[in-house]
Amino acid sequence: MEKSVYRNLFKPMRLDGLRLKNRITMAPLYLGYAALGGKISPLLLHHYKEMARSGASLIVVENASITPNGSGSPRTIRCDRNRYLSGLEKLARTIKDERCRASLQINHAGRFAYVEDPVAPSEVGAFGRTPKALTKKEITNIQKQYANAALRVKKAGFDMVELHGGTGYLLAQFVSPRTNKRTDSYGGPIESRIKFPLEVLKRVKDTVGDFPVGYRFLADEWLPDGLNLKESVVLAKALEENGVAYISAMGGTYESFFLPEIIKKSKKPGYMVSLANTVKKKVRVPVITAGRISTPAKADSILKDKRADLIGLARVLWVDPEWPKKARRGSYQSTLKCSPTCDACLKLVMQGKPAICPKWSKEKKELYRGMFQ
Ligand SMILES: Cc1cc2nc3c(=O)[nH]c(=O)nc-3n(C[C@H](O)[C@H](O)[C@H](O)COP(=O)(O)O)c2cc1C
Ligand code: SF4
Repeated sequence: MEKSVYRNLFKPMRLDGLRLKNRITMAPLYLGYAALGGKISPLLLHHYKEMARSGASLIVVENASITPNGSGSPRTIRCDRNRYLSGLEKLARTIKDERCRASLQINHAGRFAYVEDPVAPSEVGAFGRTPKALTKKEITNIQKQYANAALRVKKAGFDMVELHGGTGYLLAQFVSPRTNKRTDSYGGPIESRIKFPLEVLKRVKDTVGDFPVGYRFLADEWLPDGLNLKESVVLAKALEENGVAYISAMGGTYESFFLPEIIKKSKKPGYMVSLANTVKKKVRVPVITAGRISTPAKADSILKDKRADLIGLARVLWVDPEWPKKARRGSYQSTLKCSPTCDACLKLVMQGKPAICPKWSKEKKELYRGMFQ
């Protein structure tokens, strides 16, 4: 294989014993392609085949719900019952057949769940709805659901599982001082607010045994009264001590993403790299960074400067799956680029429609629309 000028980007590494052929990973990206009800659809398989063929070393599949009550949307992948196993097996195989590692992100959306009666650590309203505060019994039950879902991910043939602690979903809701107002052992100082994710991690690890467990990590909520880096690094260190395979750092939640200053910040290349860098200084486990890492030169320099260990590409890879190959060949200029002024994919999925990128060719748009069920 030809050598690339981006030596850091194409340097293999080991992640919890697994070989990764390079440092390019796909960060989880929900695009509304699963069938209604969360089953794996032909369009979803087609999409992940494209992503796996891109040359990335690891695909972290978008969030999949561990319980119907924690689902983010009617098209969120489900992994809460054994009946979803055969679809998940096809998905894992589709990715691995392309010599690519496969991970599935598992999630409980908590107060952001697409249900009539959402649950959360405390009764802190979101978008006009007030969730019910979880009892201790319900907390234990959810932890078991995480463990059962993780075991299904392993049984389906994925190489690893990722706990979704980002975007302000349930794990993050426990860690945040804004959304966790509990007065029992799960609330109070940061050392108590991290109890829930650490117990989830322990239960998952005890259940899956020798199987890597990664963590999507909310480093900063970007809200004045929200979780900030000073507190979140306490969780990062605890996750490492408790055997997490990697930390994939991100910032923001649905309550901050659409604030004018955050929209402005999120248009900048590498807008979340400083979060990953701060986390990386505190831990030895590999750290993934994402967020408009649009050029291979930028990606390579992040790795060279040891600001992160792996690069996460979400929209960047989806808009042009040729990115890794073109980067290797040095023909990056010809890649399709995600435009900082566009938010079409996010808008479409929030309206319950499949994501179609305006940058794609007419033929590709038609193919995706045609496959959508
Ligand atoms: C439409 C959309 C869906 C997303 N879905 C997920 C998801 O399921 N899980 C997750 O952890 N992050 C999700 N993200 C965040 C991405 O993983 C990533 O952090 C972010 O898009 C920045 O990377 P990029 O500029 O390469 O897209 C999503 C982002 C977008 C725009
Ligand atoms: S160009 Fe628009 S639709 Fe395409 S990936 Fe970027 S934000 Fe999404």
